Amino acid sequence: MAQPEVMASAFAPGKCILFGEHAVVFGHPAVAVAIDQGVRVRIRESLSWVLEGLPFEPSRHPHISHIIDNVFEYDGHPLNIDVESTLFSAAGMGSSAALSNAFGAALHSFLSPDEPLIPIKLAKMAHSAEATAQKGRASPTDTATSALGGFVVVSGGKVEGTRHVFDTSLVTPEGKRDWSVNVVDVPEGIGDAWLVMGFTGEGSPTGRMVAKVAKLVSSDSDRMGDLESIANITNAGLTALSAGNIEALGMAMDACHERLRNLEVSSPKLERLVEASRPHSLGAKLTGAGGGGCMVALTDNPDRVSEAIEVAGGKPLTSRLGARGVRITAD
Ligand code: MEV
Repeated sequence: MAQPEVMASAFAPGKCILFGEHAVVFGHPAVAVAIDQGVRVRIRESLSWVLEGLPFEPSRHPHISHIIDNVFEYDGHPLNIDVESTLFSAAGMGSSAALSNAFGAALHSFLSPDEPLIPIKLAKMAHSAEATAQKGRASPTDTATSALGGFVVVSGGKVEGTRHVFDTSLVTPEGKRDWSVNVVDVPEGIGDAWLVMGFTGEGSPTGRMVAKVAKLVSSDSDRMGDLESIANITNAGLTALSAGNIEALGMAMDACHERLRNLEVSSPKLERLVEASRPHSLGAKLTGAGGGGCMVALTDNPDRVSEAIEVAGGKPLTSRLGARGVRITAD
C-alpha cells in the first residue's frame, strides 16, 4: 500500500551559556546564545508509530510523548518521526530542548499548516516537556534560547539593558519558581566573531554539579562571593554585548571561568581545552554545568581554535554568535 504523503519538518538550534551558569540557580541572571547546530525533525503520516526507523516507545521518549499527548492531545493517524542532530548529546548543548522545540514546531505545522508559529508558545511548551522529563526541575534557559534564538537572559527578576519577552513559572518539588525571560539586541558587527565549542567527550552531570556547588556555598562563605562575582561579570558581559564590544566580552568570559573554577566545577579536560584555546581567542571558559561537557571560546580565528582543541583531545564545533531560533523548514 502506498504511504500517505502528508509531512512537516522543523529545525531548532542548540545553545551555549556565555555567563551565569550555577549563579542562575541562586536567582542571578544567566546569558545563553543560540548556535548554528541543532535538531531537525521530520514527521509524516504512517501506518504505525515509528521513531528513527524503530517502533515508537512513548515511555522512552518523554519529551515527544508529552507534546503529543498533553500539549496537542493528538489522537490522529500514527506518525513516522525522523530526528537528525548536529549537537553532541549529554554535552550541555541543549539537545533535548532543541528536540522538543523542533518536534513541537513540526507537529504544529503538520496540524495547522496555515497558522504562524509563535515562538513564545513553543518555548513554554518545550519547557513543560523538559520539566516532565526531568522530574519537575528545569530552568527555561535552554528551551527559551532554542525557541527565540539570538541572546537570551533568564533571571529571577528584571535585568537592566535587556528587552523583556515573557515570564514563566514552574511548580518544582522544592516549590514554585518564577523566571523572567529577556533578550539582548546586539549591534551588527558582533557577527564578525565566532564561537568554538570544545566537547571533552565526557558527559556533564548537571544534577551532581548543582548539588556540589550548593554544598560548597553553604560551608564556605568565600564561595558565595564567587557566585556574586559571577553575577557582576554577567552584567559586565551584558554591557559588552549590547555595545558590540567583543574584546570586553572575551575578558568577561575569562573572568567567569576563574570563578567557576573556584566553585570546583571545572575538570582537567576542560582546563586543557580552555588553555589550548586561549592563545587564539578573545576569551574562553567552561560552559554549562561543568564536570565534563563543553568549553567555549570567543574568537576571530575559528579554524586555529578548532585545531588547538583537536590537538588537546577535544571535539570542536564552530558557530556564528547568535543563530536564529526555531523554524519550520521546507524539506
Ligand atoms: C546547566 O546548563 C546550567 C546550570 O546553571 C544549571 C541550571 O541552570 O539549571 C548549572
